[in-house]
Amino acid sequence: MRHWPLTALRLTTPDLVLRLPSDAELDVLAQVAAEGVVPDGAVYFPQPWASAPPAERARSVVQNHWWARGDWTGDNWRLLLAVFRDGQVIGQQNLSARDFATTREARTGFWLGSRFQGQGYGTQMRAAALALAFDGLDAARVTSTAFADNTASRTVSRKFGYQPNGVHRIAVDGQPHDAHEEVIEAAVWQKCPLRASVDVKGLSACISCFR
Ligand SMILES: CC(C)(COP(=O)(O)OP(=O)(O)OC[C@H]1O[C@@H](n2cnc3c(N)ncnc32)[C@H](O)[C@@H]1OP(=O)(O)O)[C@@H](O)C(=O)NCCC(=O)NCCS
Repeated sequence: MRHWPLTALRLTTPDLVLRLPSDAELDVLAQVAAEGVVPDGAVYFPQPWASAPPAERARSVVQNHWWARGDWTGDNWRLLLAVFRDGQVIGQQNLSARDFATTREARTGFWLGSRFQGQGYGTQMRAAALALAFDGLDAARVTSTAFADNTASRTVSRKFGYQPNGVHRIAVDGQPHDAHEEVIEAAVWQKCPLRASVDVKGLSACISCFR
């Protein structure tokens, strides 16, 4: 799409392709969310969209993508990529930043449909986001936040060598949750063996969107 150059961006890992979804693909992504993202009763997000009823959950995925695009500015952006395995939509990888030109700091978030979890895809998704942030956009550091009991998310961070960066206690639906922020610096990423597994294409067409 000429006037939304982020559509050119493609991140490729050994098993996955990450790119903006078309509206038809976004509908499939929403259905993946409707079929389940978190175990019953688990709360893994500060906005508890994933534990809402299926139809509400699906619609919030669609609206979040449209909102992120409509709200995009060079100093406050949220890139929401759909994740494809063998052409099938399986989840979502986010990379976002405020005042990135000054801070060189970005954050990631991710989710997979329940049936696609625990097969190493989350690790590949995080590697793709880090390659875009560090190698593509010249980030200095990237953060990730996960609730204390979210072992899968925290294990992914640990595998890349993230360091603890503080714990915030936040309320979700009237219950307290300890949100652990972790950070990875560019120098750690540069030595990460997973770095070589990611290919970033189409960035030159859209790099002006990130400034
Ligand atoms: C978080 C998420 C994206 C990770 O993706 P994934 O594909 O499941 O992750 P991977 O398979 O790449 O890696 C998960 C790691 O956690 C480990 N793990 C998962 N659950 C575990 C548990 N209960 N105890 C110990 N280790 C656990 C896995 O063994 C794996 O480590 P390994 O590769 O060393 O074996 C995915 O699980 C998900 O969508 N969860 C629900 C939504 C969510 O929590 N999003 C993140 C919010 S911060």
